[in-house]
Amino acid sequence: MSDKKFELTDLSSGKKSLLPVHTGSIGPDVIDVAAINKDHGVFTFDPGFGVTAATESKITYIDGDAGVLLHRGYPIEQLAENSSFMEVAYLLLNGDLPKAPELQTFTDSISRHTMINESLLRFFNGFHHNAHPMAMVSAVVASMSAFYHDSMDINNPRHREIFAHRIIAKLPTIAAAAHKHSLGQPFIYPRNDLGYCANMLNMFYAVPCEDYVVSPVAAEALDLLFILHADHEQNASTSTVRLAGSTGTNPYAAISAGVAALWGPAHGGANEAVLAMLEQIGTVDNIPKYLAMAKDKSSHFRLMGFGHRVYKNFDPRAKIIRAACHKVLASLGHTDNPLFELALRLEEIALQDEYFIQRKLYPNVDFYSGVIYSALGIPRSMFTVMFAIARTVGWVAHWQEMIADPAMRIGRPRQLYTGAAKRDYVGVAQR
Ligand code: CMC
Repeated sequence: MSDKKFELTDLSSGKKSLLPVHTGSIGPDVIDVAAINKDHGVFTFDPGFGVTAATESKITYIDGDAGVLLHRGYPIEQLAENSSFMEVAYLLLNGDLPKAPELQTFTDSISRHTMINESLLRFFNGFHHNAHPMAMVSAVVASMSAFYHDSMDINNPRHREIFAHRIIAKLPTIAAAAHKHSLGQPFIYPRNDLGYCANMLNMFYAVPCEDYVVSPVAAEALDLLFILHADHEQNASTSTVRLAGSTGTNPYAAISAGVAALWGPAHGGANEAVLAMLEQIGTVDNIPKYLAMAKDKSSHFRLMGFGHRVYKNFDPRAKIIRAACHKVLASLGHTDNPLFELALRLEEIALQDEYFIQRKLYPNVDFYSGVIYSALGIPRSMFTVMFAIARTVGWVAHWQEMIADPAMRIGRPRQLYTGAAKRDYVGVAQR
């Protein structure tokens, strides 16, 4: 805590309080409002948590005005350029970059936990073939709590570590099982001789009747997308995991809640919605019509993949993905990709538009990611599942940080009640 104080004065009574101010390692100070209820009998009101820091955290830092994203202090651009998803996962979970043997041990542990219980596999047969994969993944992740409940003591650090490795390892397997179920193809078991992303692609695309060789370009592209999606501090799904986890619930159940929160189009579901929108716009000529709709407050249409609660500047992840699109499409031989061309033009036109300039609406991480997923042959309904696989690392890192904190309390927001005041019950005949 710093020596700074904020003075709060109730102008009607003249009563004053001095509120402590906390200073982080970087970023704005935060005012500790815990005393205001005791001192003044009031609560704060901040729907959407626009200005509320719900926790202290050491994992990820964002400066939305400058377009900066740091994981454990490392800029996302440097991690994207030099690191791997497994290394970033280790970094987020443990706080520092691993030494070579530490990375090896971690990667080995993840690959040894990739299989899922055969009974879990049978769950998929209960879903219709066209069930949305996010519904299947969320349900199956929640079901994992039934398999690992008695053996999971959240107060035991080793149990927490095993949970972390298990869920990170099994998410691609669950995603692949959902994909194969929707295709009606046999499930392909994980292969521990392949890297994290290559194994996922193999489980997605291999079939038992012929050999399948994973494209290194595809595995590398996926690895980059996973790095970029791995964590993003207190976003809606991470906050959901923290809130659910703060009750002491089984962590697989908490992660399942995170998957559900991610699904919405305002959050991770935007990557699927962007592709649907680009297909709907169709050609460059139609862009002005759709931009007008996005600006029209009476229409529910929004430019998907644009805008962000925190970034009021370019989302640094979007810049990296846009550059990667050029590289990946060229490496895969997709030199003429009409959806990417359309996305580029849409970005260019929107960024010159007064509405988007005034509101500081820039492309976010979801604007270009779907172009790469599509080029890798991943179906549109699976895009948000890809996001969930990567974000599981962030969810787990935040859950671990919260549970290990001796000051953890159950998350329990307050409200401004605007319903009926106390009134007496009237029997049905008298109403
Ligand atoms: N298209 C048109 N107008 C927009 C858009 C958009 N995509 N985003 C924000 N606005 C307008 C909004 O109507 C409001 O205008 P006004 O001031 O005239 O009322 C202003 O910009 C501020 O928007 P807001 O809704 O108050 O901002 P928010 O911080 O509550 O919402 C958001 C952030 C990301 C939900 C929103 O920008 C949005 O819906 N974007 C489209 C969906 C999307 O791409 N989501 C992915 C987010 S990044 C990845 C992730 O989190 O998973």
